[in-house]
Amino acid sequence: MSRTFSIIKPDATKRNITGSINNMIEDSNLIIVAQKRIKLSKEKAEGFYAVHRDKPFFNDLIEYMTSGAVIVQVLQGENAVENYRKIMGATNPDNAEEGTIRKKHALNIQENSVHGSDSDANAEIEINYFFDESEIINN
Ligand code: CMP
Repeated sequence: MSRTFSIIKPDATKRNITGSINNMIEDSNLIIVAQKRIKLSKEKAEGFYAVHRDKPFFNDLIEYMTSGAVIVQVLQGENAVENYRKIMGATNPDNAEEGTIRKKHALNIQENSVHGSDSDANAEIEINYFFDESEIINN
């Protein structure tokens, strides 16, 4: 068993499709062991995406991620990071496989509905950025 960190992004909360995304998560045998609906501050979003600070899309990304509610989640299961990346699909929905969250729901490469950690080490960092261990309930 391992964990990954997920964000359901503003394009999805605005369209009221968070339940559909959670169904796809649960259908893939991942368990949502923590989740909360929050509004990211500019500082919180910039800290989360610090690795992308020099990218041309950084400012647009921060504006988008602070434009509405997000749902931050901890997902648990076998090979959680890899499993979630598989069901999310490619970052750009044009390249995402049929049956993935981004193929079904994403609008474009930025408004791509979900974020998932890219490694176990980053999953731990990202989970700790939003959750206290006491908020993660796995039984
Ligand atoms: P995410 O997996 O959360 O990681 C960085 C985010 O930046 C990405 O999803 C998209 O929402 C956004 N983004 C916007 N443009 C690009 C791009 N050209 N390449 C990658 N990510 C992008």
